[in-house]
Amino acid sequence: RQILVPTDPTAPPVVFHYIPWFGSAAYYGMDPYKFMFECRDKYGDVFTFILLGRRMTVALGPKGNNLSLGGKVSHVSAEDAYTHLTTPVFGKGVVYDCPNDMLMQQKKFIKHGLTTEALQSYAELMPAECQEYFAKELKLSKQNPGPKTVDVLHMMAQLIVLTASRTLQGKEIRDNLSVRFAKLLEDLDKGFTPLNMMFPNLPLPSYRRRDAAQKEMSDFYMSIMAKRRTGEHDHENDMIQALQGSVYRNGTPLTDRDVAHMMIALLMAGQHTSSATSSWFLLHLAHDQDIQQRLYQEQVDNFGNPDGTFRPMTFEDTKKLPIMDSCIRETLRLHAPIHSILRKVLQPIVVPQSLAAPSENVSYVIPKGHIIVAAPGVSQMDPKIWEKAGSWNPLRWLVDGGIAKTANEQYQAGEKVDYGFGAVSKGTESPYQPFGAGRHRCVGEQFAYLQLTLVIGEIVRNFKLTAAQKAIPETNYQTMIVLPLDPKINLEARV
Ligand code: HEM
Repeated sequence: RQILVPTDPTAPPVVFHYIPWFGSAAYYGMDPYKFMFECRDKYGDVFTFILLGRRMTVALGPKGNNLSLGGKVSHVSAEDAYTHLTTPVFGKGVVYDCPNDMLMQQKKFIKHGLTTEALQSYAELMPAECQEYFAKELKLSKQNPGPKTVDVLHMMAQLIVLTASRTLQGKEIRDNLSVRFAKLLEDLDKGFTPLNMMFPNLPLPSYRRRDAAQKEMSDFYMSIMAKRRTGEHDHENDMIQALQGSVYRNGTPLTDRDVAHMMIALLMAGQHTSSATSSWFLLHLAHDQDIQQRLYQEQVDNFGNPDGTFRPMTFEDTKKLPIMDSCIRETLRLHAPIHSILRKVLQPIVVPQSLAAPSENVSYVIPKGHIIVAAPGVSQMDPKIWEKAGSWNPLRWLVDGGIAKTANEQYQAGEKVDYGFGAVSKGTESPYQPFGAGRHRCVGEQFAYLQLTLVIGEIVRNFKLTAAQKAIPETNYQTMIVLPLDPKINLEARV
């Protein structure tokens, strides 16, 4: 391989490729991390590669993350990078199908919906869903302990959709899950793939099914809102309830259609990210009996009754579990569900000399029209930043047996986020960003932590996990979310 010398001396180096339009699509698509680590060795932290005709400029490391995630709205646009993928799935008028300022207000509405009261009620509802699943689907109990080999991704996808629909999404969604909703979600999923990202409109059946599912799902949410208005349906502390009645700063209210589309967006944003994270988490537990025992002991110490049963966890309890918390952090470090965060470059971006200096006096400039790619997963697995970067070691996060404030808590308090090992975050310049950073940062982090803590807690209380495969499975990068490939574990009911 050799560097193709770009005509413009200030343009970042272009990754060598044989076929002009195709570029590095195969290599990047198969294993984006291997590709990016290798390119970093050859070209430095900033380089451009060709992906099916598009010019993608990757900026790596904490400073690279900052360049894209901390970029000004006038310079980088998420909506221009994502809308052709997301709008057919979420629907029109929200998220990336509206000006950025409206998305920022929609995110505020969502934040306001995630009140302490709502989260407390979610904590009460989730364990019952898990128990029902264990009894009906796993059919494991003290009388019939197993062991049983399960596809952990399948199991977690179900537990995540059951618990999210019962709480955030609303009771009516939960009640219709097995009737029609699951099929619609599947059709939407099949329209949310790298193929859809690259080719927004192809005359394929999956694209037609995606569009039909979007309409039916959106209509279903609308019918829920209509029935609630007539008093035919009850509501709880769910997000439909929170969003209905929200009004933009200019006085325009969210329409029912807007709410429906935001609910679909939330469903899609949380489903695969959290099922992937929990699957990786359980796979590691099955392969690490020491951590599994510590996690179980944490449940016994905090919630165990003398008769061997457990008292329920409250929302407040979930924030005080250092082993659980560090396991989630560590899983997200090694398996960030989103490997590439994209923005379209609207105005040329000058790359600071400290990030990449092709010669003594020339700085790179990322041209308008490129897609700038942030890959926090690269700095999260960088051996220059983390000790034994490739191994899953939750204990690295523990400070004197306790855990430092969560990144989210530090972030919310406007404090410097300190990850230990000299890895310090300054706002958007950070080596650890599984939830992104800056204006597009995840609003679902708190909900995700609550859900993961409760669902995994329920699993660990009830089952002993053992490995069903020789090693942690390979990663599947063919989907939008980083998933384990054909992952299996053994479950055995604790007696
Ligand atoms: C944004 C990760 C769960 C809703 C993001 C971003 C990341 C992310 C990396 C930034 C995307 C970008 O900058 O382009 C995760 C992970 C999750 C998770 C790792 C779980 C482990 C959730 C959940 C919800 C959610 C449960 C909803 C309840 C959102 C929303 C955005 C977002 C609304 C904002 C998009 C924007 O402003 O452009 N998430 N997410 N996420 N996430 Fe999450």
